[in-house]
Amino acid sequence: MKYDIQDASLREQGVKRIQWAESDMPVLQQVRTQFKKQKPLKGKKIAACLHVTAETANLVRTLKEGGAEVALCASNPLSTQDPVAAALALEYGIPTFAKKGEDRATFFKHLHAVIEKGVHLTMDDGADLVSTIHTERTDLIPQMLGGTEETTTGVIRLHAMAKDGALKFPVVAVNDAKTKNMFDNRYGTGQSTLDSIVRATDVLLAGRTFVVAGYGWCGKGLASRARGMGANVVVTEIDTIKALEAVMDGFRVMPMEEAARIGDIFCTVTGNTSVLDKRHFSLMKDGVIICNAGHFDVEINIPQLASMTKTVRKNIRPFVDEYTVKGKHIFLLADGRLVNLAAAEGHPASVMDMSFATQALACEWMATQKIKLAPGVYEVSEDIERMVARTKLASMNIAIDELTKEQKKYLDSWNEGT
Ligand code: ADE
Repeated sequence: MKYDIQDASLREQGVKRIQWAESDMPVLQQVRTQFKKQKPLKGKKIAACLHVTAETANLVRTLKEGGAEVALCASNPLSTQDPVAAALALEYGIPTFAKKGEDRATFFKHLHAVIEKGVHLTMDDGADLVSTIHTERTDLIPQMLGGTEETTTGVIRLHAMAKDGALKFPVVAVNDAKTKNMFDNRYGTGQSTLDSIVRATDVLLAGRTFVVAGYGWCGKGLASRARGMGANVVVTEIDTIKALEAVMDGFRVMPMEEAARIGDIFCTVTGNTSVLDKRHFSLMKDGVIICNAGHFDVEINIPQLASMTKTVRKNIRPFVDEYTVKGKHIFLLADGRLVNLAAAEGHPASVMDMSFATQALACEWMATQKIKLAPGVYEVSEDIERMVARTKLASMNIAIDELTKEQKKYLDSWNEGT
């Protein structure tokens, strides 16, 4: 199978979307220019399992420009932009296996199709390639140079594997780079999640009680943006320090059982399971909207919700299902999957620019190591982070101060005090 996409006639539309995104990705463009000259990925096969968006298209084009053979599948069954998948397969010659709304069997068929194309390096958003290679294709492990991981949930999975001694090749935790999580997780999730809720429901946020479950970088971004739109924001947390941070950032913090009674809109961003559960659904007001912006669709316990519901009206608007619990309506968005990618376009190109420039450079780093790296989870180097931040600032025409000689000396000395 060369590729598997929804609709070839969407190719032109996809090209336009990819070009539009490209114009807001100056750091990635610079990496591409450098890759074109130096071909650091020559002869390397990269299996990529990412959200198939216009921004991802520009990342895989960059890897190809660097000399790699890349194949791409979707990291979530609902996040694929079909026009982009068509353009990638037909215009840019990237074997792409992704259809928006694909079922579970197709999702895994696509994952395997990408692995079948050959793999020295993996690029994951959620660790599905790494996990599949370690469970079903262990024959490939000796040829693996390593991988990169885009998201918090994936990094958590990798650390769990490493702790068990199960991780058999090196993987760079791109998610943990400052140039990724401080911007993509915070501002990207903040904006795109609100965008998706509004697109799906047309709800007015001002004056509503907006409950954010989880106060990591994503939750922080979402809470701050919801407040910016005039919502009364409530945060729920299980971590004492994050809870305290939310309090001092000016949010109300309370257990979900209390929040469930007062919230109008709920969004989970925790990376954990059953954050909204049976005991919460029964407390909710009539007409609430519930959704998830965490990686997997486990944060809202949908089987429990369904078990409490006599009638489910599917698709009362695109991405909106109505569940009726004891006469009260609960509107679930995007089947509890990543709402910002399912019901909107994911994070804007300008912020994915930094994440994906970091991805491309981390991949280059991994591919060009002289000595085989030991299995484990690796950090993105300070050099890469600095390069990405410097280039992004320059693209925004923002100059900053430099340390003077006197200041450098002062910082290096330990004997100058009061
Ligand atoms: N994750 C969140 N937003 C994304 C986007 N626009 N493209 C790829 N991955 C994403």
